[in-house]
Amino acid sequence: EKGTYPYYMLKEIDEQPATMRRIISEYTDETGAVAVDQELLTSLLASDRIYIIACGTSYHAGLASKQIIEQLSQIPVEAHLSSEFGYNMPLLSQKPFFIFLSQSGETADSRQVLVKTSEMGYPSLTITNVAGSTLSREATYTMLLHAGPEIAVASTKAYTAQIAVLTVLAKAVGEAKDVLSAKSFDLPMELGIAANAMDVMINEKELISQLAIDYLSTTRNAFYIGRSEDYYVSMEAALKLKEISYIQAEGFAAGELKHGTIALVEDGTPVIGIITEAVTAPHTRGNLREVESRGAHTLVIVSEELSKEGDQIILPVVHQFLRPLVSVIPGQLIAYFATLERGYDVDKPRNLAKSVTVE
Ligand code: F6R
Repeated sequence: EKGTYPYYMLKEIDEQPATMRRIISEYTDETGAVAVDQELLTSLLASDRIYIIACGTSYHAGLASKQIIEQLSQIPVEAHLSSEFGYNMPLLSQKPFFIFLSQSGETADSRQVLVKTSEMGYPSLTITNVAGSTLSREATYTMLLHAGPEIAVASTKAYTAQIAVLTVLAKAVGEAKDVLSAKSFDLPMELGIAANAMDVMINEKELISQLAIDYLSTTRNAFYIGRSEDYYVSMEAALKLKEISYIQAEGFAAGELKHGTIALVEDGTPVIGIITEAVTAPHTRGNLREVESRGAHTLVIVSEELSKEGDQIILPVVHQFLRPLVSVIPGQLIAYFATLERGYDVDKPRNLAKSVTVE
């Protein structure tokens, strides 16, 4: 029930901090320690590489989680598109472990990979919002997102919940392996801080709505740019924008833009930079200046500690592993408000269904 909300999407964006808090309580024990299924943990500890398989927003959540999982668990991670992986399978490691990310648990592209990897005898985990879904029943293990039903076609709370649940899992693996970065990472506390930071961003609706109107009311196209994690979040922010507002949007690696795509930048083209990482911040800022000098209308989404005079959207500081949880929210809200402004149905974009059950 969407209650007083005009659209499910807005309700679901708002539910993200509560979902983080629910994930903390679902995946910690009485002592506050992170707790996951013991057999799942044993199976992961025996693996030498994690393959994340997913589509769309879930794939983007996989990309955004790769670095977190590697740092906490010290197991290499690859994220792949389901529709590519099944028919163009790379040479696998000796002991692969497959993680299927799927909000609905019904995505045919992902299922075809699960059928193949199960036939090959490999262990699998489905991380899904829907208990009893096909992918959940057919995988060796399941972890639930506990996000509550997601009704809007554009996925929001499932994305942040997937990153949070993968972080829980990686923390449990890292702790079991005695990895220092996992032992010293107080996940319940840091995820709680991130939930509060998400609330801060969600309360910036007025500002973000105005920026969406200023930058996106009439444009034909738009870019999000960023580096490393900020690049992956850019891909997700661009997907949100294009699927509901129909603005042709692309999430681009900030440094790659000048290798060709910058040719598309003309007078007034919106280019939105996401900046949360100190080492790459000056470079992404440099890339924003490059496009500005070609007429781009630039907007900056930046962590407080890296912000400068004139930056438009300021993100509260959170633990470095959890930055995507907060930096994606302005992108979700920008897509929402741009779509409202352009007069389309936010929850039911054309040509799309909530779960895609054909390959
Ligand atoms: C975008 C969106 C889709 C889904 C994709 C995978 O907002 O919702 O890209 O993320 O179809 O769906 P699931 O996660 O159900 O497998």
